[in-house]
Amino acid sequence: MIYLDSAATTLQKPRGVAEAAARAIRTMASPGRGGHGAAMLAADTAYNCREAAARLFGVKNPESIIFTLNATHALNIAIKTLARPGSKVVISSFEHNSVLRPLYSMGARIFVAPSKLFDPEDTLRAFEMRLGGAELVVVNHTSNVFGYILPIHEIAAMCRSSGIPFIIDASQSAGILDINYTELGADFVAMPGHKSLYGPQGTGILIAKYGSSLIEGGTGSNSKLPEMPDFLPDRLEAGTHNMPGIAGLAEGIKFVSSVGTSKILAHGRELIAAAADGLRQIGGVRLYEADNPEHQAGVMSFNIRNVPSEQIASELWARNIAVRAGMHCSPLAHRTAGTLEQGTVRISVSAFNTKKDIYGMLRAVGEISRKV
Ligand code: ALA
Repeated sequence: MIYLDSAATTLQKPRGVAEAAARAIRTMASPGRGGHGAAMLAADTAYNCREAAARLFGVKNPESIIFTLNATHALNIAIKTLARPGSKVVISSFEHNSVLRPLYSMGARIFVAPSKLFDPEDTLRAFEMRLGGAELVVVNHTSNVFGYILPIHEIAAMCRSSGIPFIIDASQSAGILDINYTELGADFVAMPGHKSLYGPQGTGILIAKYGSSLIEGGTGSNSKLPEMPDFLPDRLEAGTHNMPGIAGLAEGIKFVSSVGTSKILAHGRELIAAAADGLRQIGGVRLYEADNPEHQAGVMSFNIRNVPSEQIASELWARNIAVRAGMHCSPLAHRTAGTLEQGTVRISVSAFNTKKDIYGMLRAVGEISRKV
């Protein structure tokens, strides 16, 4: 199989990830729930993972690293801590449903800052125009559909100078782009563990200094009190931890730190450039690519004439090539790009893809384009 669906989840992981997860199942109990060896091993493993994540994301206190089920869970904590019914919330026109739906369900007043694809200056202008009276800003660092890298540093600076709380959805950027939580001054950064941090599914991270719990329960701390502890990470981590996931995630983060995000980003861009070069030569292909490669990470969308994107993905899968097509849970991004009807075929790469994978995909797309 040629796997080009890493924006959904990375499938090829560093070898240590599965080994650590299996070891955790065999040897670890629950952190903070006992002084015996199995509980202490779990506690040390969880803390090591928090430390590794804190180093990677410029977080001063490892206890600001909150373990979640996925990025959606992390975003729900962040959004439900900061937004209220009727709050004016400004979001980019590339947000995923994991931002849109929580805001919608709680009755926030959602203001989309509409901007052109791959145009950071336009994005900044759109935010500037809408920030007056905003009570919260939520921005997708990198579009999961198009790989467009939004200018989060400049948006963070605008929020800091206006005193507006700021949430970053780093679902497609954590492990690929440099993210320094302390320098950005964001309130929350949410990310999955299972994409470009190469951890198992069922893992995510919220970087937080405070927060309201979505669920309450045992934390192994302040147990006589009826309310959740007021300190992190316990306040936001009720219930038994996913130790196999966390042990695997620690290995994934160590892999990213040892290779370095700049090398991972350069590799992704090289593969996407090769894909774009090839796709441009194929009749009927409409490509969504940045003029300036610095505005795009390892994700690219395309279509073939007016053929439904899902049909192209099925044809690719019939040739053993895994991609994602359709809406990618991001109707807003598709509306922005004008692809709401057809959706797009999306390829997304990881550190484990090679040019050979790209050439295999290109051969298949050429064949499909002639056929459909
Ligand atoms: N949000 C993930 C994707 O883009 C699941 O595929």
